[in-house]
Amino acid sequence: MENLFDLSGKVAVVTGASSGLGADAALAYAQYGADVALLARRLEKLEATAAKITALGRNAFPVVCDVSDEDSVKNAISQVAEHFGHIDILLNNAGVAVTGAVDELEKSQWDKIVGTNLTGVYLVSKYVVPHLKAAGGGKIVNTASVNAVIADKIPDLVRHAYNATKRGVQGLTLGMAASYGVYNITVNDVGPGLFESEMTENTLFKHEAFMQSYNAQNPMGRPGKRGELNGTIIYLSSAASSYVTGQHIIVDGGASIV
Ligand SMILES: NC(=O)c1ccc[n+]([C@@H]2O[C@H](COP(=O)([O-])OP(=O)(O)OC[C@H]3O[C@@H](n4cnc5c(N)ncnc54)[C@H](OP(=O)(O)O)[C@@H]3O)[C@@H](O)[C@H]2O)c1
Repeated sequence: MENLFDLSGKVAVVTGASSGLGADAALAYAQYGADVALLARRLEKLEATAAKITALGRNAFPVVCDVSDEDSVKNAISQVAEHFGHIDILLNNAGVAVTGAVDELEKSQWDKIVGTNLTGVYLVSKYVVPHLKAAGGGKIVNTASVNAVIADKIPDLVRHAYNATKRGVQGLTLGMAASYGVYNITVNDVGPGLFESEMTENTLFKHEAFMQSYNAQNPMGRPGKRGELNGTIIYLSSAASSYVTGQHIIVDGGASIV
């Protein structure tokens, strides 16, 4: 029987693979048989993830890349294509969070978050899509957030720019899915709820009032555990989702439905 989740022979590009959810997903891709290109700005951390992938018997290729910089992205994707010969899967996961309401945010903060979270998804996709077309198809998974559909009102956790970029990622997913289906490329996004990572461990996880309200509100009564996003990412990156495109899957224990 065909294993719908098998990624053997596939090459996955993961942005933001130096920590958190991206590093976890990169390992999951390798566990399901894929070779993995790891992109982010911190080479040492990419190399640490690469070593874990190599230990699984898969090929890992760490490349320094700033997703907000077009030359950096162009150069990184060209190195990946040369190294592996083809690209089949793209996980646009790199992201940053900035707190502040519009009347508090500096324009430079707005530009930085939009440049990473939204322009970054556009740029990496721009240079990867031609390779997916050349391969006869592929899978793109964009990391949005539960904060694309719900906002925080606790004053020191308000993140207007973050909300905007993650809703923007959902919009980009829709447009790309509508255009690229004809090339056998599916484009979907995942919306994590709360997961511990560099982004959240010293902010949200340390904020007692937020944690109390998140856990009380959440039908499952807790944040996500490391690894609990991987199943959705592998599903959206594999033959199991061959006829699923343009969808937003929120992985938040139900926090956004109550
Ligand atoms: N954790 C959560 O609760 C949660 C919830 C919803 C959505 N998310 C989303 O999940 C994604 C991963 O976040 P995380 O929680 O795993 O946080 P994280 O541990 O801080 O990881 C963020 C990753 O993005 C990379 N990155 C940031 N700016 C970059 C740039 N300009 N170019 C290339 N890479 C860049 C970082 O690597 P370098 O610093 O090495 O470049 C790092 O690998 C983000 O898109 C985030 O918005 C997370």
